[in-house]
Amino acid sequence: MSETKKHKILILDFGSQYTQLIARRVREIGVYSELVPFDIDFDYIKDLNPQGIILSGGPDTVTNISSARVDEKVFELNIPVLGICYGMQTMSVQLGGDAKSANKHEYGFAEVTIENPSSKLLGNINSECDNNNKSLDVWMSHGVEVYKLPYDFEVIASSENCAIAAIENTKKNFFGLQFHPEVTHTIKGKEILERFIDICGCQKDWSVKNIVRNIISDLKNKLGNKKVLLGLSGGVDSSVVAALIHKAVGDQLTCIFVDNGLLRLNEGDELMKTFAKNMGVKVIRANAQKKFYSALSAEADPEAKRKIIGRCFIEVFEDEAKKLKDIDFLAQGTIYPDVIESAGSKNGKAKVIKSHHNVGGLPDDLNFKLVEPLSDLFKDEVRNIGIELGLPNEMLHRHPFPGPGLGVRILGLVKQEYADILRLVDNIFMEELHKADLYNKVNQAFAVFLPVKSVGVTGDERRYDYVISLRAVETIDFMTARWARLPYGFLDKVSNRIINEISRVSRVVYDISGKPPATIEWE
Ligand code: XMP
Repeated sequence: MSETKKHKILILDFGSQYTQLIARRVREIGVYSELVPFDIDFDYIKDLNPQGIILSGGPDTVTNISSARVDEKVFELNIPVLGICYGMQTMSVQLGGDAKSANKHEYGFAEVTIENPSSKLLGNINSECDNNNKSLDVWMSHGVEVYKLPYDFEVIASSENCAIAAIENTKKNFFGLQFHPEVTHTIKGKEILERFIDICGCQKDWSVKNIVRNIISDLKNKLGNKKVLLGLSGGVDSSVVAALIHKAVGDQLTCIFVDNGLLRLNEGDELMKTFAKNMGVKVIRANAQKKFYSALSAEADPEAKRKIIGRCFIEVFEDEAKKLKDIDFLAQGTIYPDVIESAGSKNGKAKVIKSHHNVGGLPDDLNFKLVEPLSDLFKDEVRNIGIELGLPNEMLHRHPFPGPGLGVRILGLVKQEYADILRLVDNIFMEELHKADLYNKVNQAFAVFLPVKSVGVTGDERRYDYVISLRAVETIDFMTARWARLPYGFLDKVSNRIINEISRVSRVVYDISGKPPATIEWE
């Protein structure tokens, strides 16, 4: 087992929207954490041998007979257990306490009072505040509450609407929090989680430097003197994989970069400069623009366009791969959330690996073994590794860009002429977002080419040219999104620059649709 994973916290997931946040916070504190469905085989838990277990929140109602339960053998492992929200409720019920529908549901901020100043979990947690160390601002989200304590537990915090807001059993090191320490709204949340981790006796050695050192050593062991192939897209994940593998086995790595003609301005050249020129990575640039444009030439339907782009990618990748000799491994940029999302509850340990959208669907007869060095890592950890390995900041902090690229940002038929216009427009938008310090305040921003013409006038001349829509959204998970309220002055400046500098655009509009009902991309 890798050195950085000797000490770990296991999180049993009951389905709360915050569960991944618990895992990320534990890792930020410096301890490796793993997240599995709550009903995973007990043998898996025993074999993993964690120092502590966290039971997450979840949408079930604990008073329903059929609601989710943790395997009771978890309470016999002789290690600390922390139940959060639903986790606290099921722990209480399973250990002899009881819960009922709360008189008042609590959603959002609440002030809890620490009832026992010498509590192992919460005592003195607030020591630098001037309110007698007793009250704590927390984030609550529940409609059920524990009303009868399980055996040997005591109440350590309460709120106005919830008499039993936190509990502990110091003999067994079992703890329960009705509120969510993992969300930043809970002011001392991270300290509380750290207190639990200290009670578990974990070493805090999950750091970027250690992670990099371990991945590189694992890669050296796994790859030996064999050759590896990687589809490099310029996105964060594949870039970090390239940098790691190159550090581990140098020239044994060959990357294929498929230039599909649907990338952002100068993106392909920058990628070649970073990897091939500056880092000395072997990168084959497959200039396949013509192939993509000709395959797309008669197709206007979004899903059909996606399929064509995916198919062309595979063909080009496969052609290039077949020219190479003696490749044993195919590297992929799969990250931990992909693994978690593909391993549903009742599915046990099975980690169904979701294929990276760029190389997914490669035919089996290429006969590669897979190597996925990021499959234990969250996106922010991947970015930190990129920084540690010296990748350019712009590459690591770019907004997401869809696999089909500009192919789904040019509505309907895709033409090189349209892509050339859109690249320039998008670049102006990005430049101005950076200048106004707004790029990092929105989560995704881009321009969309509308293949309709609109009348305009420049000087004395009448124009009849294309329309561009700008889109910028704020979102946490890209599942829902709010259109960004960019300042009018800023939008005015971007619109003027686009219409003045790009002669083929006569009108700029701003997309004010939320998701749902609209998606982030237009196609
Ligand atoms: P939507 O448009 O579905 O987008 O609201 C949500 C997020 O996913 C990205 N996206 C894609 N990424 N291949 C990708 O790799 C695709 O086909 C694709 N479609 C959308 C989108 O940019 C946004 O971040």
